[in-house]
Amino acid sequence: MKVGIIGYGSMGKMFLEKLSETQTVFKEDLYIANRTYSKIEHLKNEYNVCQSSTELAAEADVIFICAGPGDIKNILEDIKHAVSEKALLVSLNGSVTFEMLEKVLPHKYAKVIPSLTAEINRSQTLVSYNGEITKTDKATLISLMECMGDVIELPEQEMGIGSELVSCMPGFIAAMFDVICKSAKPHTALGERQMIQMLLQTLVGTGELMLEKDMSFDEVVNRVATKGGITEVGARIIYEQMPQVADELFDKTMERRRETAERAKERFGV
Ligand SMILES: NC(=O)c1ccc[n+]([C@@H]2O[C@H](COP(=O)([O-])OP(=O)(O)OC[C@H]3O[C@@H](n4cnc5c(N)ncnc54)[C@H](OP(=O)(O)O)[C@@H]3O)[C@@H](O)[C@H]2O)c1
Repeated sequence: MKVGIIGYGSMGKMFLEKLSETQTVFKEDLYIANRTYSKIEHLKNEYNVCQSSTELAAEADVIFICAGPGDIKNILEDIKHAVSEKALLVSLNGSVTFEMLEKVLPHKYAKVIPSLTAEINRSQTLVSYNGEITKTDKATLISLMECMGDVIELPEQEMGIGSELVSCMPGFIAAMFDVICKSAKPHTALGERQMIQMLLQTLVGTGELMLEKDMSFDEVVNRVATKGGITEVGARIIYEQMPQVADELFDKTMERRRETAERAKERFGV
């Protein structure tokens, strides 16, 4: 199977590296194209470096479109007459809907949203399909994405909130723990590096404990927060004050998602 990647930015580079280093796809079957050719020229000895998306589309059985919402329409127009009817087109963008893609190029499509944790093969990768996809296409895509972690199929309308929970969440978690670290700092002589290590190991350990023992958040809180104890005081503050922050976070991110989708609609003329 020949796999093409259009766009060699953050995601395109990660896909190319993951698919080849895990030997999910042999290097000789990997094709790459980028708007600025000079950025991919150095890959010539390892992969099939294409001069254009059109050249790539004429070869690949699966094509990952790793470009932003403002560029996807142009890419579809470029590949329109070259792509095989059997090829699977995969967009990585959450705001561009199947309806928009189909308007430019009626075809079988999947959407894939990976998370940064794909870098250590721990992604919770979200996938969604349009109506043209076959069982074989699904199996093919899953076999490609599993090299980065777990694959979760969602209906298209759930990809937004799903992205917040897995793709944006590493950023939210990092921001939250950054705040916690800064608040703890005035109370200790420990170095920042040591504090961060302690927090991160506890974070990973708590997650693994909950997964392994099938524990709920409530159960963990109850196990640690003994009546009248210190954890109880801290947990109460979180339950009292954090909902406002979390509600605002989802209100604002979903609002931004709607605005981006509106802009994409205008571009695609839907
Ligand atoms: N970053 C994330 O964590 C993440 C997670 C999930 C989903 N996504 C989605 O994945 C997509 C790619 O994100 P990214 O972070 O990789 O973006 P990025 O770093 O900005 O890379 C986009 C790449 O697309 C190339 N490109 C643009 N127009 C093109 C065209 N007409 N033909 C060929 N190549 C073209 C650009 O080429 P130039 O070198 O010429 O600029 C650039 O290399 C976006 O839709 C994003 O929403 C990103």
